Amino acid sequence: MRFSFFPSTIALASSVVAQSNPGQIPFSSNGVVSDDRSNLSEDFELDALRLVQFSADDIEPTWMTERQKLEAKAQGMHFMDITDTPFLGWSKKKQFSYPAPNSTIVDGVLSGLSKTETRANLEHFTSYHTRYYDSETGKASSEWLYAKILGYTDELASEEQKQLISVKPIKHPWKQNSIVIRLAPLNASDSDPIVILGAHIDSINHDGPSLAAPGAGDDGSGTVTILEAYRALLLGNYLPVSPLEFHFYAGEEGGLRGSQALASSYEEVGKEVKGMVQFDMTAWHEAGTREEIAIMTNDVDAALTEFLILLVDRYLDIPWVKDHYPPGPRSDHVSWTKAGYQSSHPLEGRFKHTNSHIHGVEDRIDISPEFSFDHMLQFSKLAVAFAIELSSY
Ligand SMILES: *[C@@H]1O[C@H](CO)[C@@H](O)[C@H](O)[C@H]1NC(C)=O
Ligand SMILES: *[C@@H]1O[C@H](CO)[C@@H](O)[C@H](O)[C@H]1NC(C)=O
Ligand SMILES: *[C@@H]1O[C@H](CO)[C@@H](O)[C@H](O)[C@H]1NC(C)=O
Repeated sequence: MRFSFFPSTIALASSVVAQSNPGQIPFSSNGVVSDDRSNLSEDFELDALRLVQFSADDIEPTWMTERQKLEAKAQGMHFMDITDTPFLGWSKKKQFSYPAPNSTIVDGVLSGLSKTETRANLEHFTSYHTRYYDSETGKASSEWLYAKILGYTDELASEEQKQLISVKPIKHPWKQNSIVIRLAPLNASDSDPIVILGAHIDSINHDGPSLAAPGAGDDGSGTVTILEAYRALLLGNYLPVSPLEFHFYAGEEGGLRGSQALASSYEEVGKEVKGMVQFDMTAWHEAGTREEIAIMTNDVDAALTEFLILLVDRYLDIPWVKDHYPPGPRSDHVSWTKAGYQSSHPLEGRFKHTNSHIHGVEDRIDISPEFSFDHMLQFSKLAVAFAIELSSY
C-alpha cells in the first residue's frame, strides 16, 4: 500500500496545473468560513492550495484550499496535509517488542503529579484568543509554553538531570513553533531508539482561523497532561537509559503538519523510535458513564497498544476499554505510524462520549463539570508510566 503511494503522488505533483480546475476539488466554498484575517499571519491565505490525504494510506491525495480544509473539518472530516512531506514512510523501520512493565520507580514519581499545576497551566493556555498555528496568539502560546518548560527545568531539575536535558523550539513555515524536550543519557548516540510522548499546542475554530478557539480539551488537555508528567520526572530526579522526548506539535489542526515535519526529519537521518504515544483530549468524563480510558485501535501499532493496556492495568485507578475512531487520520500519532514507527493513542473515553465542544468558542475548562482534572490526572500517570517503563532499559 505504502509503495503504491509513490507513483500517484508524483503524478499529482507534476500535474499541479490541475489545481486550477475547480472540478478537482470536492468541497465547494459556501461562504461559511469567516474571511476575517485580523489575527493571522500576513502570509496565511485561505485560498492557498494544499495537497491533502483523508487517510494515512490514501493513495490518491487531493488538492484543496485552506478554506476547504476548514470546511472539511466543520463536516467532521480529518486529514493530513502532505504538501511539505509527500513521501513520509519511504524507509523501513526497526520494529520493537515490549516486555511487561516491571519498573520499581514509577510509583515514587507518580506522587509528584499535581492537579493544581495542570489547572493553572491550562487556565493560562486557554486564555489566548486562539492558538491557531499561523496566528500571532498561536505563536505567543508556544513561546509561553517554551518559557514554562525552561522555568520548570531551571527550578526543579537536579544538576545531573540538567546535563541530560535540551529544550528546543522547532521552526516551521508558519508562525507557531513546535517544541521538543529531550532527556538523553550522556552516553546516548544518535542511533539509540527514542521514546516519544506527544500532544499538540494549536487549537482551531472551524468557522474561521481568526475566531476565538480556547482549545481546552483539544488539545490544551493533552499538552498540560504531558507537561505535568515532565514536571513529575524532574521532581523525581528520573534519569533515563534510553533517550526520552516530549513533543509539543504545532499545526495538528492544519493536517498533522508539525508532527509530519518532525517524523520526516527523524526518518531523513535514520533515527529509530522505540515507541510513540499521543495525548489528544484527556479531560472529558461524560456524565452518567463509567469513568474509563479508551485505547484507540486505528492507525496504531498493535504491540505497543497492548503494552499501553498493561500500563493502565498496573498504574491507573480506572479501567480501559478498546475503541476506534471513524476512518481518518485523527491526531499526530498517525504521522509516526505513516512514517513506519510504532505509535499508540489513549483517549479520554469512548469516541461517542468525547468532548463535543471542540473546534469552537465553547471548548473551555468551565463549560461543564464533565471537564475533569481528576480524569486528566489519570493520563498524566499513564504518561509517566510510559516514559519510565520504556526509557529505563
Ligand atoms: C550507557 O550507560 C548505561 C549505564 O551505564 C548503560 O546501561 C547503557 O547500555 C549505555 N548505553 C550506550 C549506548 O552505551
Ligand atoms: C483577534 O484577536 C483579538 C484578541 O487577541 C480579539 O479581540 C479579536 O476579536 C480577534 N478577531 C476576531 C475576528 O476574532
Ligand atoms: C525490566 O525489563 C527490562 C527489559 O526486559 C530489563 O532490561 C530490566 O532489567 C528489567 N528491570 C527490572 C527492574 O527488573
